Amino acid sequence: MNETSGDLPLLFTPIALRGITARNRIVSSPMCQYASEDGMPGEWQLVNFGRFAMGGCGIVFTEETAVDWRGRKTHECAGIYRDEHVPAYRRITDFIRSLGAVPAIQLGHCGRRASQHGPLKDRAPLTEADAAANRKPWQGLSSSALPATPGGPLPKAMDLDDIRECLAAWREASQRALDAGYDVCEIHGAHGYLIHQFLSPLSNLRTDSYGGSLEGRMRFALEVAETVRAVWPQDRPLWFRVSAVEGPGGVWGIEETLALAKALKARGIDAIDCSSGGIALGGDGGLTPVPRVPGFQAGYSSELRRETGLPTVAVGMIREPRHAEALLREGHADFIALARGLMDDPNWPLHAARDLGIADPLALLHPRETQRLRQLEQHAREYPAGSAIGIPFGPEEQVSYSWGEGIARRR
Ligand SMILES: Cc1cc2nc3c(=O)[nH]c(=O)nc-3n(C[C@H](O)[C@H](O)[C@H](O)COP(=O)(O)O)c2cc1C
Repeated sequence: MNETSGDLPLLFTPIALRGITARNRIVSSPMCQYASEDGMPGEWQLVNFGRFAMGGCGIVFTEETAVDWRGRKTHECAGIYRDEHVPAYRRITDFIRSLGAVPAIQLGHCGRRASQHGPLKDRAPLTEADAAANRKPWQGLSSSALPATPGGPLPKAMDLDDIRECLAAWREASQRALDAGYDVCEIHGAHGYLIHQFLSPLSNLRTDSYGGSLEGRMRFALEVAETVRAVWPQDRPLWFRVSAVEGPGGVWGIEETLALAKALKARGIDAIDCSSGGIALGGDGGLTPVPRVPGFQAGYSSELRRETGLPTVAVGMIREPRHAEALLREGHADFIALARGLMDDPNWPLHAARDLGIADPLALLHPRETQRLRQLEQHAREYPAGSAIGIPFGPEEQVSYSWGEGIARRR
């Protein structure tokens, strides 16, 4: 990792991990779109993720992308489990890269949280009645045959063949992600999905070598990390997203996360993305017990960074550029990720650059936009507020412009 700060705010100081350099440390966090059919991305993803690259982010994650069709939460989830998906993602990564950002993918498998409707239908389980609308339910897989919510559909407890098959799916999906042009890959180990279902003693009741002790419960996560690292080239970074603590009544905390992160580091993981929540006693409802205050997960990032020496990502309600910059300056994180803040303002990096006093914020944008926006600034300099202006209404007629009213009136 490079740290060349000088007078430049750290948020806008380029950063290199392995052979990949991001122009700044603003990350567009993974965001599921529920806009795919049979895993395939389309126009929605191109525009939605493209706008974050256009707005100046250093790294643009697309969405959690299932390594296996069974590892999708819904029929509309993105996936990369067929070779036909590769060119569709290639179109998106080419576009993101052409805008100066690093394209990144989050690979995942939802495990027992499969076969649902999307969030607009409250994630209700699919039933046989949905099959008529081409939305056939399927059985999820998990560490143990426990439902995600009381009374919910039972997943199959994975046997050793299922685990081998699943690792093969991770391997093949990683290769496809590489072929699709992604530079950064993140393993989704958080939010109550399959990897987390193996980690947590609430969801993992196995008595074989994939359960029991912390080592046993970490085994699947570490095997996924090894599998992906074996495919992901040495010059490209591999990240891992953790739930640093789980939901209400959870028994997984920061000490367990530290043990996991150290083991991941030994397997070549380059950064830990610090999230939280997902598995809760009595049902995996809301994601997290952590109060949603600005930087609510930044303390986990700080702790993990200090204790493991790994670069970390702080995410969660970070909206203020000065807050983001302080988190970096004070050594709590190496990257700042935003999700909803970018949905609200895809040009957040540009606005943050202005706020932090960068010399030429507009240089963050594509020259097509930069050139026009420089004109806008130029106009403001040419005609400062209050100056005497006449607006022509004809070859001979000038009407004075009134600044307060914002209009030239003939009267
Ligand atoms: C629309 C949306 C979709 C999300 N999808 C994912 C996802 O695919 N994978 C993931 O790990 N987190 C996902 N998240 C969580 C975000 O990556 C992020 O961690 C969280 O929203 C907190 O950041 P924020 O406060 O800046 O929004 C999603 C969040 C939103 C708002």
